[in-house]
Amino acid sequence: MKRIVIKKPGSWKALELETCADPPEPKASEVVIDTAYSGVNFADVVARQGLYESANKQIGYPMCLGFEWSGRVAAVGADVRDLAVNDEVFGVSKFGGYASRLVLDRRFVFKRPASFSLAEAAAFPVAFLTAFYGLVELGAAKKGQAVLVHSAAGGVGGAIAQLARARGCRVFGVVGSEHKKDAALRFGCDAVSVKPEGSRTWIDEARAFAPEGYAVVLDANGAETLRASYNLLATPGRLVIYGFHTMFRRGGGRTDWLRLAWQWLRTPRFDPLAMTNDNKAVFGFNLSYLFDEAELLERAMGGFLDGVAQGQLVAPPVVEVPAASVGEAHQKLESGRTVGKVVLRW
Ligand SMILES: NC(=O)c1ccc[n+]([C@@H]2O[C@H](COP(=O)([O-])OP(=O)(O)OC[C@H]3O[C@@H](n4cnc5c(N)ncnc54)[C@H](OP(=O)(O)O)[C@@H]3O)[C@@H](O)[C@H]2O)c1
Repeated sequence: MKRIVIKKPGSWKALELETCADPPEPKASEVVIDTAYSGVNFADVVARQGLYESANKQIGYPMCLGFEWSGRVAAVGADVRDLAVNDEVFGVSKFGGYASRLVLDRRFVFKRPASFSLAEAAAFPVAFLTAFYGLVELGAAKKGQAVLVHSAAGGVGGAIAQLARARGCRVFGVVGSEHKKDAALRFGCDAVSVKPEGSRTWIDEARAFAPEGYAVVLDANGAETLRASYNLLATPGRLVIYGFHTMFRRGGGRTDWLRLAWQWLRTPRFDPLAMTNDNKAVFGFNLSYLFDEAELLERAMGGFLDGVAQGQLVAPPVVEVPAASVGEAHQKLESGRTVGKVVLRW
């Protein structure tokens, strides 16, 4: 089998495609998958640069990244009776998904929805699980409420817009460039503001859309927008923080330590006394620590598959890159210009 590893943190060149021994026979509850596609996430970019604490803590080096995949069942363990060889499946992995063959517990494996291609299926779970946890579990967004989503044409942002629309929320999206606007509207935003880096006009546009304030704001930008996001909350309102991508230089490839330090210093620290008086809550979370929450995974994925079957949720647009060109896939994501998701084709 083949897998992509990084032996030490670095630029796109740190990603190496290597041949390694096939995984061992599956245990009773496991499934062996011949991977068709691996999804690429911004977290992989952060981990490649050695800055993803969860990866450093949970797997170390050599590091095989990858949280999601699709493919065909190659073998099943003795207790797995509802899947058969050649079934088309997709799912999640706690790292290790950048590999041509996977051995995973049955509960991480789901049947491919008929309306999704295998490429689309590999692009689906992480974005939607992140969106679900942020918008529904923490954000508790309800019908009729105003929701603001940053990077609304990206993987997670696009999924948040879709889930928010499906819940009957009023959705305001913010995107970094004009070419993303139509996609954000298609995903479910009722209005979209274009925010080139450093621009602040989006704040007035967001206020005009929901003068009463937002019940939920979902922000993975970091220092650049967090304070404004908090100020735009209604009372009560919930700010859900799930990333810090403006800490990185767009198209950077390498870690820009000066920018990182500056953005870290600029990151707002929220005051519990002010939060209590303002009636505003601030949440943060990391999906990679939630993979063992079996009930959450089953409930969320079950809901998505129903939503897909009913036509409420659609696959994000997908850009395919050969697995051997994984550096190019990271480069695309780091450009900050992608719409939807990037996947690796095995
Ligand atoms: N906490 C969690 O468990 C969890 C799970 C999954 C993802 N995430 C986070 O969610 C965010 C989105 O992840 P994703 O995989 O779906 O990526 P994505 O949104 O498809 O792509 C990243 C987007 O971020 C924006 N951006 C702003 N500054 C950027 C920079 N310096 N470099 C690159 N992009 C920049 C760009 O959109 P605009 O220009 O339109 O704003 C870009 O398209 C990331 O911050 C990621 O770390 C967190």
